[in-house]
Formats: sequence, structure tokens, C-alpha cells
Amino acid sequence: MASNEYPFVPLRWTRMSPAESLERAKTFRESMASRRSVRDFSPEPIPDGVLEDAIACAAGAPSGANQQPWTFVVVTDPALKAKLREAAEAEERESYARRMSEEWLEALAPLGTDWHKPHFTDAPAIIVVFEQVYGVKPLPEGGVKKVKHYYVQESVGIAVGFLIAALTQAGLATLTHTPSPMGFLREVLGRPENERAFAVLPVGYPAPGARVPDIGKKPLHEVLVRR
Ligand SMILES: Cc1cc2nc3c(=O)[nH]c(=O)nc-3n(C[C@H](O)[C@H](O)[C@H](O)COP(=O)(O)O)c2cc1C
Repeated sequence: MASNEYPFVPLRWTRMSPAESLERAKTFRESMASRRSVRDFSPEPIPDGVLEDAIACAAGAPSGANQQPWTFVVVTDPALKAKLREAAEAEERESYARRMSEEWLEALAPLGTDWHKPHFTDAPAIIVVFEQVYGVKPLPEGGVKKVKHYYVQESVGIAVGFLIAALTQAGLATLTHTPSPMGFLREVLGRPENERAFAVLPVGYPAPGARVPDIGKKPLHEVLVRR
């Protein structure tokens, strides 16, 4: 409910015809259905401005109490990408050898993944998404105050969904990579204590001849329930 204390503005909204709604929903669905997680990247550069637009789109996502608890770090420096790869592969080597349960390894088997993470150095850009576990507000008298953030993971998950959709629409391929554990990312990228790595997204064009696992999606009737 609007109050006098906080300003409101008219909603900017364009009404679509039912036919246009249907057409757009279908077109978007079809273009998103061609999205796959790509693990073999070409080093070709990404056109200037595309990452900025995609990240601006992600940063426009809804978030708990509009706290926008995210930071997107874009890594293109080859030396830094190599450093990330080295640190990620050290963790993943340990995970695949010792930390992952049999059940986990079984679930991953159809994807054909292992500890090698060449996408860190092959993809032209790596977006590392951080969640801001709490906010940090500078105080007028000096020092800072911790600000509680609400629904951080839900909010960042939605923003990453926007990001993947925007990059897909721009004709780029992504992988959603969650090296485990991810603590090294904050360290290598010099991020502050209130930030925790959420996901790593290599972005670029698929390498010529790139292959993906032959896996499918559940049919709509299994996931859509009407009451
Ligand atoms: C939260 C999340 C974490 C993921 N972590 C990894 C990962 O660490 N390594 C990897 O190769 N793929 C990872 N993936 C990609 C999934 O394996 C992939 O989305 C799934 O197999 C379906 O394939 P598709 O994206 O091509 O439809 C992750 C995906 C999500 C959503």
C-alpha cells in the first residue's frame, strides 16, 4: 500500500495482445530450449558491451527487500584465469578423488565431468557471481554497520537465471560451474568478507565440434500441476 513517506511512480507497462503474448512465449521458449551447458569453449572474443548488458539485466532481477545482494566479477585477464583454473582444479581433484559420495559421483556420471576445468582458460570471460551474505553500510561517524540481507540465495539464484537467459539470447554459451568448496574465489579475486562465491559462469562461443551429454528434460506434465 502506498504511503506518503516513501515515493511511488506510475508503473511503466505496455499491454500486449493475446496473440503477441502467445507468439513471444513460444519464441522465447524455443530459443531457451536450445540452451545447453557448454564445457568446450572457443577463445573467440565476446562482442563489446554484451556482458555489460547481460549483467545489467541480471542486476534488474527481483530481490528480497530490493537489497540486490550480488556482485558480478568479470575475469578476462589470462593470468588471472589461469590462477583460477589452477585453484579450482586443485579443489576439484580432491573432491572427485575423496570428498564426493558414491551417490554424487553416480549422479554426475552421465555428464562425463572430472577434475579438469579447461573452460577457465579457454572461455574468453569468466563471470564469478558473489552473494552478499550481509550488507555493509558506512556510518557518518566513521566505521561501518552490518545490514541484514533477506533471501540472499533465492535472490542471487533468480539473478543468475536472468543472466543465463540474457547471455543465451545474445547468442553466447555458458556453463554454470560450482566448484566445491568455493572459498578460493573470494581470495583469488580479492573480494570482501561479506561476499561468498555463488557460481562461476564461463561465457563465450562453443568450440567447433563441441559435444554435450545426451540428456533430456522432464516433460511438462511431470512438472506442471494445475489445481
Ligand atoms: C546450481 C548448478 C550447479 C552446477 N554445477 C556444475 C558444476 O560444478 N560443473 C559442471 O560441469 N556443471 C554444473 N552444472 C551444470 C549442470 O550439470 C547442467 O545444467 C545439467 O546437467 C543440465 O544440462 P544443461 O544445462 O545442458 O541443460 C550446474 C548447474 C546448476 C544449475
